[in-house]
Amino acid sequence: MSEIKSSDTTAPFAQVETPLLAIALAQGSALPASLTELDRAAGGVVSRAIKTGDFKGKRDETALLYPGSAKPERLLLVGMGKAGDITRNTIRRAAAVAAKRARALSAKQLAFAVAAEARNGVSARDLGQVIVEGAAQGAWTFTEMKAALPEDVKPEVEGLTIVADAKEVKEVASGRRVGDAVAAGHRLTRYLQMLPGNVCTPGFLADRAKQLADQYGFSLTVLDRAQLQREGMGALLAVAQGSTQEPRFIVLEYRGGGDAAPVVLVGKGVTFDSGGISIKPAQNMEDMKFDMSGAAAVLGTFEVLGRLKPKVNVVGIIPSTENLPSGTAVKPGDVVKSHLGKTIEIINTDAEGRLILCDALSYLRRYKPAAVIDIATLTGAVVVALGAHAIGAMGTDEALLAEVRDAGERSGERCWPLPLWDDYRDMLKSDTADVKNSGGRGAGSITGGWFLKEFVEGYPWVHLDIAGTAYTEGDAPHQTKGPTGVGVRLFSELILKRAGA
Ligand code: BES
Ligand code: MN
Ligand code: ZN
Repeated sequence: MSEIKSSDTTAPFAQVETPLLAIALAQGSALPASLTELDRAAGGVVSRAIKTGDFKGKRDETALLYPGSAKPERLLLVGMGKAGDITRNTIRRAAAVAAKRARALSAKQLAFAVAAEARNGVSARDLGQVIVEGAAQGAWTFTEMKAALPEDVKPEVEGLTIVADAKEVKEVASGRRVGDAVAAGHRLTRYLQMLPGNVCTPGFLADRAKQLADQYGFSLTVLDRAQLQREGMGALLAVAQGSTQEPRFIVLEYRGGGDAAPVVLVGKGVTFDSGGISIKPAQNMEDMKFDMSGAAAVLGTFEVLGRLKPKVNVVGIIPSTENLPSGTAVKPGDVVKSHLGKTIEIINTDAEGRLILCDALSYLRRYKPAAVIDIATLTGAVVVALGAHAIGAMGTDEALLAEVRDAGERSGERCWPLPLWDDYRDMLKSDTADVKNSGGRGAGSITGGWFLKEFVEGYPWVHLDIAGTAYTEGDAPHQTKGPTGVGVRLFSELILKRAGA
């Protein structure tokens, strides 16, 4: 899908000319004062919906109304739950619900407002940002690979107008600018996630990185199989040796912060994970095209950086390969030498993410990073522990962990910590090598994190396990089934805060 053009208006609700005006409201049994004028112009439809109890304002609840002689063709009330609980995340979600509904109604234009009574202190700038982010999330579609569009496919939402107070409209517009950039990054990420493994190969990711580098002036380094051999990336190469698709090691550098030490983002780019010789069951194996979601989040973040040019340095690193079984594939029991020099016994070829990431974690020492955050669909165990509502977070630095979690709260991409206590290290002891790549059934996400920690030297580090949050298996009120673009908003919040923007 293409970009949604955002704008604002200071017209009173009843005067907004639009096919659909959505107004986000808090839970309550009375008509909010900010809607009395609209209600009057609309012949009382709003107060009737509230008085009858047909619309209570609970989270995700909606009511579609036809406001008589008022200017909007349709009104959509969107509930956000209790006023005291409303945050940026609640408002973003309401905008997503509205945009998803706009699409279902074939409304190409959407106007959106938050009732003054439901603001709960959210600033005008945040309002502009999160409404744009949410609308883009809710309106998202992927029809790019359909040769024939089904007849019931609805047109895309083309424009979003935020209805704002005249006193606040400047601030709203400055937030919109951030939201537009984050939405563009988010859209790129979801698009890349959605592409199947036969299209989105390691080479394809490298080409997309090149496009970003050309468009925004990032420097780009791409290593192929022969160069990886010269670098000594034995762990990444072990995963890649089963496939005829060449691996790629992609490095993007954005310089906006002078000589300052960079933030380094590392994204797992397994473009298809069959498990390799330790092959996965066929059921839902197609979802393993999403195993490059971390890589997609890093590329999406660079789209945001290119558009906003914050004063900070960021390096993005994407080790990318397929994980396939074949006569040349790595086998359980094989021992390989990592870039750091530690040897690894590969117990399970399906624990491949940590193998490609560990070589990146050692390669990136040359950047003398201020902080390193890796993002990976690393373990099924994190889905068991946290489900779809939290990223599993682990690391070596409490301050960075707190910073990441704070960015997660602001972005609505929440992180929950898991402990990397020394006790868990024993689970990775190998009889033949320095470390083994699988710790067995218990504490699967933690042993995954601990494996990575073995390769972290000399910088603050946080690992984000997004296996549960990278894609959804069903529709939600605010989101269409499939890729979520998780990571882009969190990284954007973190980086913009560091840049003081
Ligand atoms: N890509 C998978 C993890 C995954 C699972 C992502 C479900 C998304 C949804 C990863 O490479 C993997 O296979 N991990 C193994 C590790 C185990 C063999 C130690 C797992 O979680 O089973
Ligand atoms: Mn795997
Ligand atoms: Zn994987």
